[in-house]
Parts: sequence; structure tokens; C-alpha cells
Amino acid sequence: MDRAAHETSPQPVRLQDYAPPPHLIDSVELTVELGDDWTKVTAILSGRRNPAAGSGPAPIVLDGQDQQLQAVTLDGRRLAESEYQVGAEKLTLPAVDGPFELMIEGRIRPQDNTALEGLYRSGGLYCTQCEAEGFRRITYYPDRPDVMAVFTVRIEADKERFPVLLANGNCVETGELPFGRHFAVWHDPFRKPAYLFAMVAGDLGCVEDSYVTRSGREVTLRIYVDPGNEGRTGHAMESLKRSMRWDEEVYGFEYDLDVFMIVAVSAFNMGAMENKGLNIFNDKFILADPDTATDGDFQRIEGIVAHEYFHNWTGNRITCRDWFQLSLKEGLTVFRDQEFSADMHDRGVKRVSDVRLLRTVQFPEDAGPTAHPVRPDTYIEINNFYTVTVYEKGSEVVRMIHTLLGPDGFRKGMDLYVERHDGQAVTCDDFVAAMEDATGVDLSRFRLWYSQAGTPTVTARWQHDPATRRLDLTLSQATPSTPGQPTKQPMPIPLRTALIGRNGAPLPLRLDGEPDGGGATERVLVLDEAATTVSFVDVPPGAVPSLLRGFSAPVKLDAAWSEEDLAFLAGADDDPFGRWEALQSLSTRALLAMVGALRAGKPAVLDQRVVEAFRASLADDRLEPAFLSELLALPGESLLGQALDVWHVDEVHAARAEARRVIGETLFDGWSALYERLSAAEPAGGADLSTAAMGRRALANAALAYMVASGREEGIRLAVAQARPDGTMTRVMGALVALNDLERPERDAALAAFHDRWQNDPLVLDKWFALKAGSARTDTLDQVKGLLEHPGFSIRIPNRVRALIGGFTAGNPVRFHAADGSGYDFLAEQVLALDAINPQVAARMTQPLVRWRKFDAGRGKAMTDALRRIIHSPTLSKDVYEIASKALA
Ligand code: TRP
Ligand code: ZN
Repeated sequence: MDRAAHETSPQPVRLQDYAPPPHLIDSVELTVELGDDWTKVTAILSGRRNPAAGSGPAPIVLDGQDQQLQAVTLDGRRLAESEYQVGAEKLTLPAVDGPFELMIEGRIRPQDNTALEGLYRSGGLYCTQCEAEGFRRITYYPDRPDVMAVFTVRIEADKERFPVLLANGNCVETGELPFGRHFAVWHDPFRKPAYLFAMVAGDLGCVEDSYVTRSGREVTLRIYVDPGNEGRTGHAMESLKRSMRWDEEVYGFEYDLDVFMIVAVSAFNMGAMENKGLNIFNDKFILADPDTATDGDFQRIEGIVAHEYFHNWTGNRITCRDWFQLSLKEGLTVFRDQEFSADMHDRGVKRVSDVRLLRTVQFPEDAGPTAHPVRPDTYIEINNFYTVTVYEKGSEVVRMIHTLLGPDGFRKGMDLYVERHDGQAVTCDDFVAAMEDATGVDLSRFRLWYSQAGTPTVTARWQHDPATRRLDLTLSQATPSTPGQPTKQPMPIPLRTALIGRNGAPLPLRLDGEPDGGGATERVLVLDEAATTVSFVDVPPGAVPSLLRGFSAPVKLDAAWSEEDLAFLAGADDDPFGRWEALQSLSTRALLAMVGALRAGKPAVLDQRVVEAFRASLADDRLEPAFLSELLALPGESLLGQALDVWHVDEVHAARAEARRVIGETLFDGWSALYERLSAAEPAGGADLSTAAMGRRALANAALAYMVASGREEGIRLAVAQARPDGTMTRVMGALVALNDLERPERDAALAAFHDRWQNDPLVLDKWFALKAGSARTDTLDQVKGLLEHPGFSIRIPNRVRALIGGFTAGNPVRFHAADGSGYDFLAEQVLALDAINPQVAARMTQPLVRWRKFDAGRGKAMTDALRRIIHSPTLSKDVYEIASKALA
């Protein structure tokens, strides 16, 4: 294995080493004096020995990073320097037995903090990001989630430049100070771990609204943004109110403080953060209007606002005992936000897009060198574990519990979970135990879903005997080994199952041995062994099984459907997911056959059955436009790549482009009629944000893209017209995406016009960066390199990095994986540059290199060379070290 240039490799933290904290903190009084050179932080901690961690004197050990300690006072006595030890990441104080009061004085430089963890300054704004371990960069503290305290925070700053001073909870005092300074004191009555601490200071505009809870309490809602952006907060505010109502209706969860605040900041490592009463957001997930945000942006904003709000109960009131339990709050909260969005819009469409994300990003993670369980058991840097596995697969695990218990059972489980654990820091196991105890359902084997990594494959074979009218369905499961887990046990897998009759209607189901099936047309079969056979009786000939309906488990399904079965299900399955899945499978088979042909030096010809299935779907006017647009989307290149033993990037790209051309050309009249009909329904201004209107726009854009793909001039003409930058963003982006790969002056002109119109709006400019970086044109890498010098680009702003660099490395497989290795060299260089500034983002950017085993030998070698170059950097962060070393292991 390759060794880093590290003196000693960073050491992993292990779940099995968990021990309760020796000391608890009951209250924190924090004073933060913001200054241009230094920020002074004084913390008064009232603590005591933790009865759950033994008795007798124990030294107080606090976490701390990147700060200058100035003084320590214990129970009123200032300690001499000889009485404590300051290490690189720990402060060790004398042993204490009983209650204590500790005062820590230190100073920090937020203006130099480019990692965007702890307290940092971005432009004229001070803000914090403390999850997971950022609070230790603000003051010395037992920075772990099982230490929960009541916080009172006093902020002092220059009044003119920082008129707005915010922290968690309620503002209890404000006042003037000498030298043009002022202060505010905030008190949060709820005990919380340090990772939920937040404060903000700056010159911000504020939009205020209010919400009356179910029990009649009035809550003030405030969204803070850079002055001038107030007009772009309406959608976030409405989303917040809808989330608050939904959580009351579905779970009985009411908001618990008098004020709920959101602050939008432009330099932010991730999407948003659920700090108690003071959510901090990446501005990209707050600011929206129809001119600058697409319908997709609007929907993401709604989902993320809901996600952070929902954390108030699932995360804040009940938090995690340790970071291995991260999915306790994240998996559950993603499940809740997915259900919220499904209720607000179209359930089938939401399910399809969630499954697409899971398959496109989580399945590869689960099959690669960084695979880990939903509850990891070891990590080097916890920031690397905010993953699609912990979040999205974690949500699927909660969803399976929901499926097994039913909606009422699940709600009973949630009620018991809150009744038992409100105010506590708990484990995934506590959650499962509450679900079991509330319903009597045994989930002991189900717990494997938390501890076992890897995506199971479920194999389904069936046989129908016309004489006895029995259909025997044989199911088996296998999970491939993953790093550190060579062998796997069978897990309980809920499979929602139906049989679709020849006439297209689902059949009433009866299992062998049952007196009658009660007329139900769907059953949840639980495959809880390695293999089993279930028999349905009274099954007429020609019935086709509809399996894994609603994607009832995060598995790969290998089912014995013929192409005819798939074409049939694509038109007849009463489960929307099943219908979409059937067409996806049919298309995938056809595309993989085309890849095979190209590899063999033969022309790639699209299976006519795909075209016919598309034609039939296009003609089915019972389908909602949004759903139809999902149905008509071919599987993406990375999904196709994964389905191959070796991801042949060029052939996959060529096959998919050819399939799109054929579908565009053969069905051109259908696309064109659809496009005209939908465009006529679009009101001028295009500000209708109803689910139906968004669906119509999605479908119109899909039709337009197929017309362009056909190669006919008419498609290009329509797209050029729709791309004019005075249109609404959904339409403009739809047109630009359709044109983006073309080697034509019209494409360049459309992008240039967009740039000229939006170059001073950073969030819109990001769309342009991503388009430039995502084009399949051969000059793309040169373009991207040139754009690193664009005045609108900055390596310090993660959104810019993700748009331009990520748009190329993660969003453009055919160019990133250029056979000459130029894409890999470029990424290695950028990761190293970024690592010196922001290790958390640098580690994420390294991801496109880790699955090098999926590629041919030449590419694999070039990718590992790039990883070696990274890992040999003498100053590498442990964030990037962990990812690169696992990739090379
Ligand atoms: N807890 C946040 C969420 O899922 C995400 C988060 C974790 C985060 N660490 C972060 C956000 C660091 C920004 C920066 O809602
Ligand atoms: Zn979250």
C-alpha cells in the first residue's frame, strides 16, 4: 500500500471504543468579541463529573484547535501554566471530582479561516459551522454530541459594519458599547450539543413572517440575506411554513421556540445546517425567483428548508450519542423530507428521482473502496462520513421499517421514540428498539441493515403452471464483500409484490395455503433468508410479476423478465415506480447491447422495442407530464457504466447519444406536437410554480432536447429561441442543456448571451460554469482551465468549485475520463490546491478518482497515479488522506 508523506498515518476512531464522557457540562456562557485582528472568546463552563462514567477525580480534557489559549480559571482560581497541558488538539486540566466552574479565555482569527469550520468570516459576514467538530475551533470544550448544555451567548462587534448579531434561541438583551460597538445576548433554553451552536454577525437584510402553531403559539420567522436579496426569499419562507404545518399534521411535532431564523451565506461547505433556532444555509438553497432559479432549484430549496426544519425534532431535541450514529438523525430526516416533498408534489415522480440519486451515487459508493455501513464502525475524519450511504441509504432503511410496520405502526414507534428520548443523545439501536416496542414487531435481524455495507442483489425467478394455476416465485439474496466485511449475512428484505394480468389489471393475490387473500392486489413479501419460494394460487396464464414496487428495498434486482414483459409493464404496471423501472430496464439492456456492438467494431443499433415503448408512453395521455418526463429519460452514462464490468466511457457516451438521436428522429413529430402544446400552455412570465406547471415545463424541455438530439435544424432553431436570456430560468436552462454538446456557433452564442446577462450574479454564473464544464465538446478541459481565471471564479467559495471543477470531474464522465489522463492530472492539481484552503471540500472533490477499478487498465493506472500524487503531498489533510488511502488500498 502507498504511504502518505505523513510522519505517522492519522489514526482511526472506533465505535467499539465509545465511552461516556467523564464530565458533563450543564451550562455555557460564551462571550465573543469580534475584532479586526483578533476575536476574543471567553467561555464559562459549569460542569460536573458524569455519574455514568465512574466516580472519583478525573482530569478534565477539552478539545481545541487553531486557537490561542490565554487563561484558564478553575473555581475562581487562575491556573498557572504548569497546571495544564495544551496539546495540538487537547487541553488537559487538573482532575476534579465534584461540580466545577471553568473559565477559558482564548483568541481566534476567523478572517484566516478558509476551512469554513468553526467561526469564519466570509466577505463582511461572520458565521459559524460547528457540525461535526467545528466548535473546538471557537473555544476549548468537550466537543462531542453526548455533552449537552444550555448556552447563553454574548456577541460584541462594531455596530456600523455588523448591525445584526444573532445566536441560538431568544434575544434577551442588546445595548451600546464604547467606540461604536454594540452587543446582543442570546439564550437558548434547550440543552444542546456544541455542534448545534451558531452565531452570525453582519450587515444583513431581513424578511419577517409569522406562523401560528397547532396549539396557538405565534412563532416569528426571519430569513436573513445580503441586502438586495430580500425579494428572493419568498419561496423559502413559504416552504418553511408548509414544513411546519406538515410536521404537526404527520408527526404531531410543533416548533418549540418563539423565533425561527434562517441565514443565507455564500461561502458554505454543504447544503445547510440545522443549528437550534438559527439554521444557516448555503445561499443557493434559499434564494430563488423564476428569472434566476429553475424549477429543480425551487424543489430542492423546499426540500432542504424542510430537512433542516425537521431536524428540530429528529436531530436537535433527540440527538446522536456519537458520530457513528449520524444516520440516526440524517437517515430519519431525509426520510421525513422525502415524504414531505412526495405529499407536496407527485409521489411517483419523487420516488423515481430519489431512487435515481441512490443508484447513481450510493450504489457505486457501496461497491467501491470507501464503502461503509449506514452506521460506520470506524473513521479517520468524520466529515468524510456525511455520505449518500448515511443519508440516502439511511433513509431507505427507515423507509423499510415504515413498510414493515405500516404507517400507523411507524407513527406509534415515533411517538414512543420521542417519549423515551426527548432531550437525550441516543443511538440507532435506541430508534429501532422504540419501533419494536411500540409495535411488537421483531427487528433483531433487520438491524443488519445498519451494520452491513454493500448493496444486496435479489434474484427473482418464477414459473407458472397452467394446469394448477400456481405461480412459484423463487427469491434469493447475496451481498458482495466490502472492505473489512468479507462475508455477509442474509437480511430481511421487504419486497412489495403484485401480479399484473394480461388485461393490464393487477390480480387479487392468494398465497398457497391461505383460505383467501382478502382481495388485496399487493403484498409485502419479506425475504429474510438466503433463498425462499412463495407460491401464488389461482393465477391465470400470462400474468407478469411486478416486483420491488415503489423500490421497497435498496437492492439490485435481477428478475427474469423478458423484453416483452418489460415492454408490457412499461405500459401497464399500476405502480408508477414499476412502470418507470420497466422502461429503464428495457432501455438499459438496449443501450448495453449498443455498447457491446461498438466494442466489437460494429454499428450501434437501438432496439426498436425501446422506440415503440417511448411511442406508446408519448401517446398515453393519462400520464402526468412530470411523470412522463421521467419515463422518457434514458438512464445516465454513469448508471450504464456501472452496469458494465468495465465502464467504457467513450462507447457508453456514443451509444447513449445515438439512442437519443434515433428516439429524437423517429418520434420527431410526436416531440414537436408535444412541445407546441406544452409551450402554448405556458403563461407569459412563466411564474406558475404549481406542481402541474413545473411538470409541463419539465416535459417540454425533454421534448426540446430530443428534437435537438435528432439533428434536425428545426430543433436547434426552437432551442436557440428558448435560450434567449430574457426567459425564465427553467426554460433558458432547458434550452442551453439541449444545445450544450453541439459544435455549432449557435451554442456558443447562446452561452455567451447568458454569460453577459448574468455574470454579476454568482449563483446564476455557477450554472454557466457547470454548463461550460459539462459539455461533451473536446475543448472542454481547456475551457475549464481558462475559467479558473474568470473574475467570477474563486477557489475559496465551495459553490464555485463544485460548479466549475465538479461540473467537469463529476458531471462530465466522457471528458474527465479522457484516455490521455489529462482530466485526472487536472483533478490532482486542483485537489492539492484546494486541500491547503478547505480540506473538507478537497476530500469530496477527490471522489471521482476512487473507483478506478471500474475502468480499463490504462485509465486505472492514470487514476492511481493521480491518487499517488495527491497522497504524497507532505502537507496533506487527514480528510483527503482518508479518501485517497482507502482508494489505493
Ligand atoms: N447536518 C447538516 C444536514 O444534513 C449537514 C452538515 C453536516 C453540514 N456537516 C456540515 C453542513 C458542514 C455544512 C457544513 O442538514
Ligand atoms: Zn441533515
